[in-house]
Amino acid sequence: MALTGLFLISFLVVHLIGNLQLLANDGGESFNLYAKFMTTNPVIKTTSYLLYATFIIHIVWAILLSAQNRKARTVRYAVTAGSTNSSWTSRNMGILGTIILVFLIIHLKNFWYEMHWGGIAKVVYDGVEVKDLYTVVEVAYTQWWYVAFYVAAMVGVMFHLFHGFKSAFQTLGLNHPKYNPVINTIGTLFSIIVPGAFAAIPIIMYVKSV
Ligand code: HEM
Repeated sequence: MALTGLFLISFLVVHLIGNLQLLANDGGESFNLYAKFMTTNPVIKTTSYLLYATFIIHIVWAILLSAQNRKARTVRYAVTAGSTNSSWTSRNMGILGTIILVFLIIHLKNFWYEMHWGGIAKVVYDGVEVKDLYTVVEVAYTQWWYVAFYVAAMVGVMFHLFHGFKSAFQTLGLNHPKYNPVINTIGTLFSIIVPGAFAAIPIIMYVKSV
């Protein structure tokens, strides 16, 4: 869970940097050229397959671990006072992960599937023909409920990362009184800034559209 989680965390940073080009006021040119590069460059394409495998391993492993945990204690605790020694996020990683999975399925269907197999209109920049993915994203974010759905999903990602980020370091054995405060602070900042920036994109595009 830790290794795949850290890989997914690094993917989030790359994905966010790419997505920020949606906010460049150039009619979508830089974003469309970037999307073309990401879907045609052989190195990136190979990394994408690794990414899909990582998502699947992370999800399947989470389901197997939860089943194992349940099996280890067939008799439930008579009293559970989880909040005394664990955080709300750590006890609800499964629910948060499921929310993210639902988001991911809808997200991939609307953007990733469209980019690869949908009938997207083409635009030409300096003689180079590329798919106009920018307009697909722009149109999606003219609907307030779609924007609200993205923002809600990013709140889910934020809470998932609150626990996941620092937990990954603990699982890898990087648990030391001297370094824990630094890891916790970086984890908290990352969990707020990255999903916050992801959520800002649909909000800004929606505001621009009205
Ligand atoms: C405002 C937020 C987001 C926007 C605007 C956005 C936009 C996009 C777009 C346009 C694509 C298609 C790109 C292509 O196929 O070249 C894509 C792919 C993808 N997105 Fe997002 N995304 C957002 C947030 C997220 C988040 C939070 C996650 C993960 C939890 C995520 C996971 C993915 C994955 C796994 C792919 C497929 C990547 C690949 O083919 O290599 N996205 N996204």
